[in-house]
Amino acid sequence: MAHFPTEFLDEVLVRTDIVELIARHVQLKKSGNNFMGLCPFHHEKSPSFSVSADKQLFYCFGCGKGGGAFQFLTEHDGYSFPEAVEYLAEKAGLAVPESREVDSGEQEKKKRALALLEKGADLFCRALMAPEGRAGLDYFKRRKLPPEIIRKYRLGYAPPGYGFMEKSLGRDARMQAQLEAVGLMFKGDRGYVDRFRGRVMFPITDRRGQVVGYGGRILDQGEPKYLNSPETPFFHKSELLYGYFEHRDEIRSRKLLVVVEGYMDVLAMAAHGLPVGLAPLGTAIGERQVREILRLHPEPVFCFDGDRAGRQAAWRALEKMLPVLAAEHGPRFLYLPEGEDPDSLLQREGSEAFALRLEQDAKPVLDTWIDGLRILAGSGPEGRARMAKKADSMLAAMADDYLSQAWRQEAEKVTAITLKTPPRAAPETVLRRPHPISKVPSLATPNQERFLAALLQNPQRIRGLLADEEKFMLDDAGLNQLYTRVLELAAANYNVAQALLLDFPQDERIPLWASQSDISDDEFEKLQLLMRERYFYRLLKQDGTLAEKQHYRYRWNEIRNKLEKVGQ
Ligand code: UTP
Ligand code: MN
Repeated sequence: MAHFPTEFLDEVLVRTDIVELIARHVQLKKSGNNFMGLCPFHHEKSPSFSVSADKQLFYCFGCGKGGGAFQFLTEHDGYSFPEAVEYLAEKAGLAVPESREVDSGEQEKKKRALALLEKGADLFCRALMAPEGRAGLDYFKRRKLPPEIIRKYRLGYAPPGYGFMEKSLGRDARMQAQLEAVGLMFKGDRGYVDRFRGRVMFPITDRRGQVVGYGGRILDQGEPKYLNSPETPFFHKSELLYGYFEHRDEIRSRKLLVVVEGYMDVLAMAAHGLPVGLAPLGTAIGERQVREILRLHPEPVFCFDGDRAGRQAAWRALEKMLPVLAAEHGPRFLYLPEGEDPDSLLQREGSEAFALRLEQDAKPVLDTWIDGLRILAGSGPEGRARMAKKADSMLAAMADDYLSQAWRQEAEKVTAITLKTPPRAAPETVLRRPHPISKVPSLATPNQERFLAALLQNPQRIRGLLADEEKFMLDDAGLNQLYTRVLELAAANYNVAQALLLDFPQDERIPLWASQSDISDDEFEKLQLLMRERYFYRLLKQDGTLAEKQHYRYRWNEIRNKLEKVGQ
């Protein structure tokens, strides 16, 4: 971030309204000076996420996430820092300073690539609506996807034969190399050729809604049925989920998340008023995806085909889940009738019947586990033994110690065998909750932090500080660094907390301090005295002449008397 001048960042922030930015994702309600809502960073039932309009900061008292506009875009929307700056600058009508061109070669390249991927989606959309796209449009009609879904998910069509890209974008060799880099063309014996031909196209977006790749389905018969973009620097199949960007907010507000297998399932659900589906991109679901899913909603329903392959897929998903699963989570597994997927069921039974299945037939993950163990192990005493063994090895993969103990007891009940699962070696990583404490060990006292908080909350107070008060934090290097910066900023800036965050973007104490409930003037005076007391005590303990010591002792006693009077 060193590449943007601070004045420029300031200017961007001055022209940005964080409330508006966050309100796009979180329903905010005015509450005193702040807005409150359900935290988009963790799952909660009552709001502990606060957004301050005057300080332009957000902070969650539940999970400790906090920051300003830039942090919201990077942490929530998946922007890089420079992208967040550019996005907000553009929105505010500011030109981004040129000086950062130097190391932005990579950045520029990425931007061009993303623009091309976007362009590709446009071309496919347009082709679908053109006369040549008739076959594609008919296909979607057959699959019962209404026009608004086609529009919203930007479905498209890649005409059969070669030359679509060339016809649309020219024959320029550099362009073709770029198209290859983003997976739209590949290099064959006779030069660059189109990757997607004669397919309906599903653009795949990342967390911030940018097209990063495509899936393409063959219209009738042919192999492969679905062709996906190859892995590129922007397209990581094992990390992406189809529908994530489009459904993130809906999932949160409806408190429903359904993991399905295919693009068409996600879209059929959306077409039936259930825009809460997510699908992996043709690969088995992986740990990163499970993590993302559980972060979005702690009680997702995973749908599987009721046949053998479906049960195996469910088992694999369950295994991937073990290191991520915690007692707070309640994933459920839904087996659909054999040979059906959500798309076919929705067409046959409609959305209400499907919603009912989600509600009534989805089984808790623990049941799925026990059933799966049974099926794997077979019957008889040997079966029970095999079951116990398998249970033990799976329990060892679980990260949440409490949950694994609970599961273990269940497995013991079923097998009537005492399991051996040793407690995991490093429970601290398990029990650690996200919390706003800084990573550097700190000597700071709660009073010092509260004093700083009082200043951030009301920067007027900074102007009234006396000269020796600038030394209040000398005994804690980290805090002193913040404090010194606060004093500097106060001279020049109306929004000290926000400006401070520009210098210390990772320090979540800053939004915490600025957002916690107001520290009264009375308390501030007390804090000021407590800080003085500590300051003179420190001086007293230092080497010095007798006269100095006497002076400090006198001042120290004076302050202690005052403190006594105010009841400390
Ligand atoms: P399925 O083969 O189960 O098909 O693929 P589907 O989703 O029901 O598709 P329709 O209804 O016949 O159109 C499930 C998912 O697996 C991936 C795709 O992501 C697809 O959505 N897949 C499937 C591939 O990547 N390649 C393939 O050849 C087939
Ligand atoms: Mn299907």
